[in-house]
Amino acid sequence: MKIARVCAVYFSATGNTRKVVTALGRAMAACFETPLEVLDFTLPAAREERCDFAPTDLVIFGTPTYAGKVPNKLLPFVKSGFAGNGALCVAVVTFGNRAYDNSLAELCACLEADGFHTVAGGAFAAQHAFSKTLAAGRPDEEDMTELGKFGAAIAGKLSRATTPGEPVRVPGAADAPYYTPRGLDGEPKMFLKAKPVTDPDKCTQCGVCAALCPMGSIDPADPAQVNGVCIKCHSCVKNCPVEAKYFTDEAFLSHRAMLERDYTRRAAPEWFV
Ligand SMILES: Cc1cc2nc3c(=O)[nH]c(=O)nc-3n(C[C@H](O)[C@H](O)[C@H](O)COP(=O)(O)O)c2cc1C
Repeated sequence: MKIARVCAVYFSATGNTRKVVTALGRAMAACFETPLEVLDFTLPAAREERCDFAPTDLVIFGTPTYAGKVPNKLLPFVKSGFAGNGALCVAVVTFGNRAYDNSLAELCACLEADGFHTVAGGAFAAQHAFSKTLAAGRPDEEDMTELGKFGAAIAGKLSRATTPGEPVRVPGAADAPYYTPRGLDGEPKMFLKAKPVTDPDKCTQCGVCAALCPMGSIDPADPAQVNGVCIKCHSCVKNCPVEAKYFTDEAFLSHRAMLERDYTRRAAPEWFV
């Protein structure tokens, strides 16, 4: 099939999805000898306009897994902000070593509904945004090797195909419920209202957290104030240059401790073409 342009499109609060999607995008652009365009919709300003694609585009579209699905606050934009116009699309999710559950299936369904032809899908384990130890350092070299195999399989499929064919089949169900976080005691833990706190002795008011909050919820004049919704993405925690941001919510801390206790095995990436 003719590919005139490769586009890497992603939401990535702590950088994992960006790494995976842009690496795959670079590989596909090199393979088809086309330019690579990058569209990062992590920040609110990038979600103000609708993005249009063409049938000769190959779009690598990535989001993280949140509670086993596509981050729910991003769904409205994923569903209404893109016009696929028949572009070919590779759906990519990252997940933090527990499981991707239904996120890849949900993302594929959204992209098909947006007018893309999903030709492949992949789920890649990456360092959990909540933790310094869960899948630490991933995606690593081994993951990148697997990503290379995925890219080669996509290139092979597209060079043989004359039409986009059937949508890629991936595990999971697009309309499945969200994963219920549990704590160390095995009981469900609710922390929807939790927000990061700021250590006043460390915070230098540099404003990085406010500038990088995907929800635009942190007050730039006083970064200790989180005025809007917090999706627990950990952009502020991971990007703070002096480690002044952290969570103290007990339900959240118990869930994180459970994940760090129960999900130490190396989760494998999975991909489908
Ligand atoms: C709110 C939230 C919920 C998450 N839920 C899951 C999950 O259900 N399963 C999982 O394995 N990882 C989960 N993770 C981990 C992320 O999927 C993982 O860290 C991802 O790579 C983050 O992507 P990013 O760096 O592009 O923001 C969650 C992370 C956050 C912030």
